[in-house]
Amino acid sequence: MSYECIITAVHGDGPRKTGLITLNRPKALNALNDQLMDEMGAALQAFDADDGIGCIVLTGSERAFAAGADIPTMLPHTFASAFKSGLISKNWETILKVRKPVIAAVAGFALGGGCELAMMCDFIIAADSAKFGQPEIKLGIVPGAGGTQRLPRAVGKSKAMDMLLTARMMAAAEAESAGLVSRVVPADKLLEEALAAAETINGFSGPSVMLIKELVNLAFQGPLTDGVAVERRYFHALFGSHDQREGMEAFLAKRAPNFEHR
Ligand code: HXC
Repeated sequence: MSYECIITAVHGDGPRKTGLITLNRPKALNALNDQLMDEMGAALQAFDADDGIGCIVLTGSERAFAAGADIPTMLPHTFASAFKSGLISKNWETILKVRKPVIAAVAGFALGGGCELAMMCDFIIAADSAKFGQPEIKLGIVPGAGGTQRLPRAVGKSKAMDMLLTARMMAAAEAESAGLVSRVVPADKLLEEALAAAETINGFSGPSVMLIKELVNLAFQGPLTDGVAVERRYFHALFGSHDQREGMEAFLAKRAPNFEHR
């Protein structure tokens, strides 16, 4: 499939590779319009369905991961037209349905919907140039893709309120110390680091990887007791897999495991 607002590529040498999606509307700092979101949704679904792909990396440009939802597209809407049309593409939810890990590699601006999109990924690796923010208040609106919900869960109430109410941007170092991003790397090493993290994940057993993603997400969505109970069931269930026996035998034989993702 050919895309206009994103670029897709496949990376890696191992049996399971990494699907790379690069947001590509440079003149608008990767502002997220419906076409981009629909193309991204299609690319995410294609990589998720491809058995040769273990992990997905989502990135933007050096200047911007994404500077938010597309402001000119939003401008003419009324409450009625926004409500009736849904305003933002249904594909804003697609990333949440992907079962393989999605790593956000963020350089430059990640603002508004761009910050929300990064927070929908499983973890964020930031370049030292990254700047996160939810500046919707400056436009007379509020976030519309989870910013008021995911940001406080990531950085706590006080910092989230500060960012959402004052519209200030958070630099990479602050984002790391607040827990919004998992690591900060020099800008020229961003993609390399994200692809290396993906490659590490690709070497592990696919079912373990997908179940860990599902379980960590449960930690954010449900009560602790439910999450722990489901975790125990999946822990038990993996003793029915090939890769459990292989992983443990390999450890004891002091050799690398040969995972078959089953
Ligand atoms: C459309 C955008 C855009 C956006 C930037 N551009 N952000 N176009 N939608 N969100 C365009 C500019 O209009 C400009 O186009 C070009 O990108 C470069 O931007 P500049 O402003 O000239 O660059 P700079 O001075 O470096 O400032 C960068 C910036 C600023 C700080 C990121 O552009 C900015 O504040 N952008 C808006 C950020 C924002 O408010 N985001 C939240 C949107 S609401 P031209 O043609 O003039 O060169 C939102 C709600 C999400 O995301 C709801 C759920 C989906």
